Amino acid sequence: MYRSKITGTGHYVPDNVVTNDDLSELMDTSDAWIQERTGIKERRWVAKGSDDTTSKMGTEAARMAIQNAGLKPGDIDFIIFATLSPDYYFPGPGVQVQENLGIKEIGALDVRNQCSGFVYALSVGDQFIKTGMYKNILVIGSELHSGGLDKTTRGRGVSVIFGDGAGAVVLQRSEKENTGILTSHLHAEGKHAKELALLGPNTAHWVDAIIAENDPDDLSYYPHMNGNFVFKHAVTRFQEVIHEALQSTGLKTSDIDLLIPHQANLRISQYIQQKMGLPPEKVFNNIMKYGNTTAASIPIALSEAVQENRLKEGDLLCLAAFGSGFTWASSLIRW
Ligand code: ACO
Repeated sequence: MYRSKITGTGHYVPDNVVTNDDLSELMDTSDAWIQERTGIKERRWVAKGSDDTTSKMGTEAARMAIQNAGLKPGDIDFIIFATLSPDYYFPGPGVQVQENLGIKEIGALDVRNQCSGFVYALSVGDQFIKTGMYKNILVIGSELHSGGLDKTTRGRGVSVIFGDGAGAVVLQRSEKENTGILTSHLHAEGKHAKELALLGPNTAHWVDAIIAENDPDDLSYYPHMNGNFVFKHAVTRFQEVIHEALQSTGLKTSDIDLLIPHQANLRISQYIQQKMGLPPEKVFNNIMKYGNTTAASIPIALSEAVQENRLKEGDLLCLAAFGSGFTWASSLIRW
């Protein structure tokens, strides 16, 4: 059977660094509060006037991943793009990447699974490779959150957490046994959909109603997050889904060489690391620099981990994510 191997990684973040102190000029918050609760020191927010968009950042990350895989854009035969912040309500940004990279009329699929989006997208790519349908798949996670956040004290529980950026991988067919993606596990619990959601506009509150109401205080246009509730579910689900992946492959926690959890909150990553008995050096975190970049967080972290030589051939890499939906997912990869 064919296996799917990550052969190239890439990432792109906007230049504009926004520190916690910068945020305290916009709202009632502090560097001490943000660092203590989340571990975040700074994040990247696309600057006013910049032409960075979700699709453009995704394209830049993809270019780097394709180059690192030793391929040309024309070698790619399918695109999967995970995001909750597409440039447009429709179409999704996969087609824009195809256009930006000048690739012929290959398929482009958009995945809407928020913080779990990249792990879901990777698992979809894995299936296409295993069946023999495609050989070189581009899997991208990209987010532009900053334009849609409530940057006042009213929105501080959400807006201080999120950052902009993109990451990408090339997933390639391999015929080598016991290599690449070993297993993927996907879960969802829709009863908690509204605990972490952006509800406006929606099909029950469509454009004519929005225009008629013209209500500047309509909070449905900003992301809503029941932070404590999400936190409690996240710490449980992360561990469950990692153990599920280990059990299904007969591997142990001690076999993991590197865990890249979705960068939601440094406290969540540290809690999982301690509960699972992993040494800190086996868990990769970069939320301190970028905040939570949702679908982009894992591929950005993976690209940086590769740049820092944190993965060598044969290592066991675990990816795990939890977020809006609720959705959660894991993947075990033999590097
Ligand atoms: N600065 C200062 N004070 C603040 C801020 C801020 N930025 N935000 C909230 N506060 C205040 C609150 O008003 C509250 O004050 P009060 O006690 O006087 O009422 C107090 O701080 C505590 O607020 P909580 O919301 O209870 O803070 P908590 O410790 O839960 O931390 C946080 C909030 C960081 C959001 C945390 O709950 C969290 O990380 N949750 C999980 C996030 C997550 O994993 N999301 C999933 C992925 S995202 C996705 O899928 C899109």
